[in-house]
Amino acid sequence: MSEYLALVACGAPLAARVHEVAAAAQRHGWVVRVVATASAMNWVDAERVEDITGHAPLVEQRRPGEPKRFPTPGHVVVCPATFNSINKLATGIMDNYAAGLVCEALASGTPLTIVPTVGDALWGHPALAPHLARLTSAGVRFVDPGSGRVGDPRPTGGDVDAFNPEWAIPTGTAARTDRVARPGPR
Ligand SMILES: Cc1cc2nc3c(=O)[nH]c(=O)nc-3n(C[C@H](O)[C@H](O)[C@H](O)COP(=O)(O)O)c2cc1C
Repeated sequence: MSEYLALVACGAPLAARVHEVAAAAQRHGWVVRVVATASAMNWVDAERVEDITGHAPLVEQRRPGEPKRFPTPGHVVVCPATFNSINKLATGIMDNYAAGLVCEALASGTPLTIVPTVGDALWGHPALAPHLARLTSAGVRFVDPGSGRVGDPRPTGGDVDAFNPEWAIPTGTAARTDRVARPGPR
């Protein structure tokens, strides 16, 4: 299995902690690449991401002819996942690099963990429940950012301060534990 973990941040306040999630994944032996939506970059601390992973967050698609920037990941974590990006994933819309990476993971059976941060104001939107059900039946592992509970996604209040980055890390699928994770070549 690929030792690469793609960590995708969407545009919500929890994206400010994506470097903490990257560090936690590295402690578990993953080689991490952070991918961010344009909205997420309002929160992501790009310098800290680069310090921890050795690479700046990837936002744009590679250019035609440019080689792939990292190998196919063994796991994709979306943290945080917005209402917008969850709905796009469920309906197969890949209009930015992050969305494309996550759609490809779902389509190819790459294990996917999603940490949704969707509040009460949007939870009742009629698109959301069927999309969450579709993603759950496709094997997506949902993790609640306020409690770490797995499965049965619920609205997120303002309590993401309680979020523990370890909760987002896939369990039982850890990459190599016999190596010290370090940044790869730039
Ligand atoms: C201050 C602020 C906080 C936001 N928090 C959330 C949030 O917690 N969850 C969410 O789904 N969208 C939230 N949004 C809206 C998203 O940023 C917006 O829908 C954006 O288009 C998402 O794009 P993305 O899915 O490509 O990252 C927030 C927007 C702002 C300005």
